[in-house]
Amino acid sequence: MSDTAVSAAATVINGKAFAQGLRGRVGSAVEVLKRDHGLTPGLAVVLVGEDPASQVYVRSKGKQTVEAGMNSYEHRLPETTSQDALLAKVAELNADPAVHGILVQLPLPAQIDAQTVIAAIDPNKDVDGFHVINAGRLMTGATGAAAPLVPCTPLGCLMLLKHHLGNLSGLDAVVVGRSNIVGKPMGQLLLAESCTVTTAHSRTRDLPAVCRRADILVAAVGRPEMIRGDWVKPGATVIDVGINRIDAGGGKTRLVGDVAYDEAAAVAGAITPVPGGVGPMTIACLLANTVTAACRAQGLTPPDLNAG
Ligand code: GUN
Repeated sequence: MSDTAVSAAATVINGKAFAQGLRGRVGSAVEVLKRDHGLTPGLAVVLVGEDPASQVYVRSKGKQTVEAGMNSYEHRLPETTSQDALLAKVAELNADPAVHGILVQLPLPAQIDAQTVIAAIDPNKDVDGFHVINAGRLMTGATGAAAPLVPCTPLGCLMLLKHHLGNLSGLDAVVVGRSNIVGKPMGQLLLAESCTVTTAHSRTRDLPAVCRRADILVAAVGRPEMIRGDWVKPGATVIDVGINRIDAGGGKTRLVGDVAYDEAAAVAGAITPVPGGVGPMTIACLLANTVTAACRAQGLTPPDLNAG
């Protein structure tokens, strides 16, 4: 399958196909690690409680981990789990040499402080890239053995952007949303690519005008179809991180992004669809991060999985 298709105006950036390719490259890298180094990367995912969306994600992560030839360790803890019990589980996984990556699925129940749990994860196993050490390494541009593990969703967005645009240097990038999971690391990644970055958010004055400056517009606000077609500069590349389920009438629902797709696609140069855009990239990047973490744990240089 081609990784791009042309719609009425904009090129549709096919994240689903790109993610499939990335998972293939991860699988090949895993084969080499097993054959040449006797190393099988292992990813542990911890799910606390019964949140239906989280259960779907965790199942999907486990399945794709195994499909890539890696070991998957799933730990399901009850909704009533105490913070101390979860910290004890994290400590056990930190100490386990077969576990190279640890992901504690968010959100966590109210009795548990997510920041405390994230801080307890060994930064070298923090395949979510949420630990302050990894956030700091990203911000300071650390490289080599000190390079950060980068949060999966913004890493996936960056891969799609570089694949589509090539060199991003000098481009105006506007990121709408300032979460620790997407908006902030996305801004840092684009800055490292020498973009001129604006991080916009709910208090930004005249958000449509700010968005219209963007050569690269990344929407990560979690508000269905908030970004309209007339907020998009003609020819811009639009990356839609939103996954929102809305009422489609007749008792049905459908998924939409943070961008009003049809309007924006009529103006943009390229755009990611929802579903099939950024979404599939997140787990593919999680697998890539797990390979990176496993290699570093063994003193090996991680493979370049970027080349798409
Ligand atoms: N919940 C929704 N997205 C994520 C993610 O990327 N990582 C974790 N740990 N939890 C999530």
